[in-house]
Amino acid sequence: MEGVEGVGKSTLLPVVKDFLVEQGVDVLHTREPGGTQLGEQLRDVVLNTDQEIVPKAELLLMFAARAQHAEKVIAPALAKGKWVLCDRFTDASFAYQGGGRELGEDRVAIIEQWVLEGLNADLTLLLDASRETSLERTKRRREFDRIETEGDEFFEKVKLAYLDRAASYPERIKIIDANPDFDTVAESVRVQLIESCGQWLSAAVES
Ligand code: TMP
Repeated sequence: MEGVEGVGKSTLLPVVKDFLVEQGVDVLHTREPGGTQLGEQLRDVVLNTDQEIVPKAELLLMFAARAQHAEKVIAPALAKGKWVLCDRFTDASFAYQGGGRELGEDRVAIIEQWVLEGLNADLTLLLDASRETSLERTKRRREFDRIETEGDEFFEKVKLAYLDRAASYPERIKIIDANPDFDTVAESVRVQLIESCGQWLSAAVES
């Protein structure tokens, strides 16, 4: 599950999880950066600090957390037949560090290949809302982390990089219009899950 801050990712993740559990799927819900003890520590380092972190260091910290997460949590869960529901994954590095921080897609792709060796999401739901809607939703929060305090220009670049990814991988990345109210977006998410996961769901239930 991906999207710029304020699109409603945190409120919609339980919708995905509940849907899959109702279908009889064994789901592991995890997040990035994070998902392991080291990953959560790195999350704290990268998000909860006042010090400047240069873009290359930011990218490498995200991938350090991801390397640990992929090897220690994601791959073992997949090997046991679980489905992994991840609150952000590699597309976030393409969007935030590649786009927002202007490191570029190629640089991120090189590290992705080295760290993940082909491990990727089968389906990515990209929640997309207007900047006004996102801002309205984030205004309700009291505290902002280091990345959330970036300005409009940064988030515009992040959003464009996400949409670019979606255009490059239309089979995997599905854009969900996150502008409407919660119930409407939740329904779009369920419809997309049925459309994209239907075959896998029947296989999971049969096995
Ligand atoms: P969130 O999980 O609350 O959305 O916060 C995670 C923050 O970390 C969010 O601002 C996006 C950012 N992030 C990156 O910049 N690159 C990444 O690769 C990942 C996974 C997250």
